[in-house]
Amino acid sequence: MHLVTGGCGFIGRALVGELLEFGHEVRVLDNLIDQVHGDAEPELPSGVELIRGDIRDKAVVEKALDGVEGVFHLAAEVGVGQSMYEIARYVGVNELGTAVLLEALIDRPVRRLVVASSMSVYGEGLYTDAKGCVVGKARRRPEDIRSGAWDPREGDGQPLKPIPTDETKPVDLASIYALSKYAQERACLIFGEAYPVETVALRLFNVFGPGQALSNPYTGVLANFGSRLANGERPTIFEDGRQKRDFVHVRDVARGFRLAMEAPSAAGQVINIGSGRSYAIADVAEMLACAMGVPELSPEILSRARIGDIRHCFADLSKARELLGFSPQHRLEDSLCELAAWIRAETSVDRGAQMRSELEARGLVT
Ligand code: UD1
Repeated sequence: MHLVTGGCGFIGRALVGELLEFGHEVRVLDNLIDQVHGDAEPELPSGVELIRGDIRDKAVVEKALDGVEGVFHLAAEVGVGQSMYEIARYVGVNELGTAVLLEALIDRPVRRLVVASSMSVYGEGLYTDAKGCVVGKARRRPEDIRSGAWDPREGDGQPLKPIPTDETKPVDLASIYALSKYAQERACLIFGEAYPVETVALRLFNVFGPGQALSNPYTGVLANFGSRLANGERPTIFEDGRQKRDFVHVRDVARGFRLAMEAPSAAGQVINIGSGRSYAIADVAEMLACAMGVPELSPEILSRARIGDIRHCFADLSKARELLGFSPQHRLEDSLCELAAWIRAETSVDRGAQMRSELEARGLVT
């Protein structure tokens, strides 16, 4: 039996499906918060046991661990912008929640714990300078961002060139969310060195696919674009739209988690899970508009930046390939029709304007 904390979420549900397909028994611990789930009852496949409860509640966590062989820890608050003002909630669920889980694991050890970390711990991705030297700690200067010089620069003002980011890149925590994800990752790995529980941390890049919480404005850019397009609105784009991200399909992520539970050499490791490809955000908006049959809803470029946003980050998957035998099977361009059909079938409320006004009211957009 495997336990998936946060198993009713977007990634959790895909993982539950993957585990069932591979013949595992699955239990889910989830508190089903409204921001993600609305009023809808969760749809878990039959045979999956659901324990509704909070990851910070030790008694519930202990009950959930009963008879479990492996734990996938996905329960978390997820949203970079929101983490900057709901600080106690993010630190509470992500850090204290993980602490409660680890304490419970002392008396109820499992074979392996796989924790969902995030590419947000990197801050900016890796870059090279004009001489081809790798720059591991690029950061944009606020005055450059304010003047619309969007790319990180060398001292002489030359833009740096983004390259795939591997796990050796020093972390650079730029949001409470990133800090809490790093704390989760480290806490699990430290625990795994002290106790007989193997631990693996997966740093997820931008996960997309059917099932994403479209009405949650903090869930990621493709959900934002999808709900705007479904409501006949143009996607709004921060900066100039040339910032690059790595979009990985949720089914690939689910497979990455399963492999991380199985692969012997993954124990004790931090591993990127992405697509290994990079896409400019404005191009993605256009591709999705076409897939949804509304190419006329071209992206609106705001030329304003969200504070704390990075410019470019995309995954180097060498370690995932080597340790997990992981290779992505669903390319973004080949998956947009499926995503568009799913978005069309959902009744999504566009809360993007609400997100922007909340961030603006707090001075978190420049
Ligand atoms: C961040 C986190 C990531 C987390 C994800 C979802 C970092 C480095 N990464 O990713 O770990 O999983 O949030 O919470 O912090 N954008 C628009 N218009 C929109 C929405 C977004 O232009 O309506 C732009 C953003 O400014 C950004 C890019 O699209 O440049 C991607 O944004 P988003 O998907 O929110 O998340 P990331 O910052 O990539």
